[in-house]
Amino acid sequence: MRILIIGGTGRLGRVLTRTFATKGYTTIPVGSKELDLLEENVEERIEKYHPDYIIHSAALSNVDECERNPTLAYRINAYGTKKIATTASRINIPLLYISTDYVFDGTTPPYSEDSEPNPVSVYGASKLLGEEYVKSVSSSVILRVSWLFGPEGSNFVDFVIRAKEPVPVVAEQISKPTYTIDLSYGILNLIESKSSGIYHFANSPAVSRLKWTETILKVAKTSKEIKRIDWSNIDAPAKRPFNSALSVSRYENKFGKIRSWEETLSDYING
Ligand SMILES: NC(=O)c1ccc[n+]([C@@H]2O[C@H](COP(=O)([O-])OP(=O)(O)OC[C@H]3O[C@@H](n4cnc5c(N)ncnc54)[C@H](OP(=O)(O)O)[C@@H]3O)[C@@H](O)[C@H]2O)c1
Repeated sequence: MRILIIGGTGRLGRVLTRTFATKGYTTIPVGSKELDLLEENVEERIEKYHPDYIIHSAALSNVDECERNPTLAYRINAYGTKKIATTASRINIPLLYISTDYVFDGTTPPYSEDSEPNPVSVYGASKLLGEEYVKSVSSSVILRVSWLFGPEGSNFVDFVIRAKEPVPVVAEQISKPTYTIDLSYGILNLIESKSSGIYHFANSPAVSRLKWTETILKVAKTSKEIKRIDWSNIDAPAKRPFNSALSVSRYENKFGKIRSWEETLSDYING
């Protein structure tokens, strides 16, 4: 099976490429240089790769950049996804779209796959519109994930470990940190089982950014002072959901329990 990974140069895309290679799949990881979702020729380009399956993890993923530039956010996250969805339907292959906990407003957690989305940011709204396009593809999967960290590219764990004292943290925000290596095996399960529909995947349990930061420092055997800050203290125009914890029971009922983030954090930091 030839799996086209759109967003293959990103943090998740690079981990997916590695995991799928170890399982013997042929992957075609592409970034914006090879396949630019802003261009008109997306369908034509995709067809040239002759994929049997598409994983779409490309996005304008910086939440504040989306808020500052909504036109670009919609062009990539929503209309770019529409181009991919149209192509998948036309050549009749399955599509797995990576979405986000930010489609929810964060007021009534935990969020199941059937909960009503209500995004509070341009990023969340543009990703949600992407979901709508993906729903029209038969055998498609919408996979919502949260607070990614892992071995490829910058993430919150590295930020905390490298930050000078005091580490500035917006303490109150709550979600579920998710290790991209575990997520890549979760995606493999969904593909191999020919699943379709909406799924959530996250390590557990839900945690505040403060507790997450304290645990990162503990596991890294470092002690640093933490400075609690508010979003209004930093250049962060986008609103965030207060508690966007995803319920993962649909995934777990089918494939078994997902590990705790504490266990994965130890794998990540201590190898
Ligand atoms: N990171 C998180 O905490 C988080 C949380 C929830 C959901 N998600 C979702 O998870 C997915 C993966 O996130 P990530 O952290 O791996 O993102 P990332 O590291 O920011 O990577 C983004 C990817 O999208 C590609 N891309 C950006 N603009 C593009 C364009 N115009 N045309 C084609 N490709 C374009 C990038 O390609 P180039 O680098 O080659 O330009 C890159 O491969 C995204 O869909 C994101 O919305 C992420």
